[in-house]
Amino acid sequence: MNRGTAPIGVFDSGYGGLTILKEIMRELPHYDYVYLGDNARAPYGSRSFDIVYEFTLQAVKYLFSQGCRLVILACNTASAKALRTIQQHDLPVIAPDHRVLGVIRPTVEQLGSISKNGRIGIFGTPGTILSRSYEMETAKLFPNFTTTGIGCPMWVPLVENNESDRPGADYFVKQEIDRLLSADPEIDTIVLACTHYPHLYKKIRQYTPENIKIICQGEIVAESLHDYLVRHPEIEQECGKNGTRRFLTTENPEKFADMASLFLGEKITATRVEL
Ligand code: DGL
Repeated sequence: MNRGTAPIGVFDSGYGGLTILKEIMRELPHYDYVYLGDNARAPYGSRSFDIVYEFTLQAVKYLFSQGCRLVILACNTASAKALRTIQQHDLPVIAPDHRVLGVIRPTVEQLGSISKNGRIGIFGTPGTILSRSYEMETAKLFPNFTTTGIGCPMWVPLVENNESDRPGADYFVKQEIDRLLSADPEIDTIVLACTHYPHLYKKIRQYTPENIKIICQGEIVAESLHDYLVRHPEIEQECGKNGTRRFLTTENPEKFADMASLFLGEKITATRVEL
């Protein structure tokens, strides 16, 4: 019998994590979810290590206070700068039976079956690229692969301000693709290593040579969560399975609801919270 009541927490600095949540809900529709966007303090991408860690820990604690046993950091910047410290130092003290997972490891695990020549391009926030997390994870799993990371400081602000489909976005998208391809013209796979970037997918595809594969993380993270729940029945049994969704934001809830409804393709309502 299912006695679980815990929603699965999904956290991002803003709207980006909705690209992950959408795929998670498609893969695992019957679970309860609570999404938290720290829109008032987004973007995180140019913030220092300490600040991203501090904000992420606040968000994780908040989601725990909402009953979550499992929180997904649907944010590469938070995964790169805060996940390990939270897992190793904070969880054992504040909530040893709770779990926090990120998006980087499951993404890198897929590279071996996607890339033919091992030349990988990574688009991420300046924080994610400077952390070298993708480079290090890839070197561990696929020592013969080469990664070239490009930080794209303008891409998250374009998404957060709903400019992704407007002509102004073309300039910034093309500029970063040109930088990547002149750094390594042999790249056969590009990882969109920021959960905001699928919102720019159409334009990124348009300016990227057809032979290059572009990886969005949503499906990968959803499948990896599915697999995790199968392997961890002690967590799975705690999860509520009534198909409920709650949306929390640190910004204006009406604005969040409008944008989120657009991104998710379904009407939602949101509540403002303070972390
Ligand atoms: N969506 C986040 C990521 O995946 C970060 C965006 C930001 O706040 O800069 O990195």
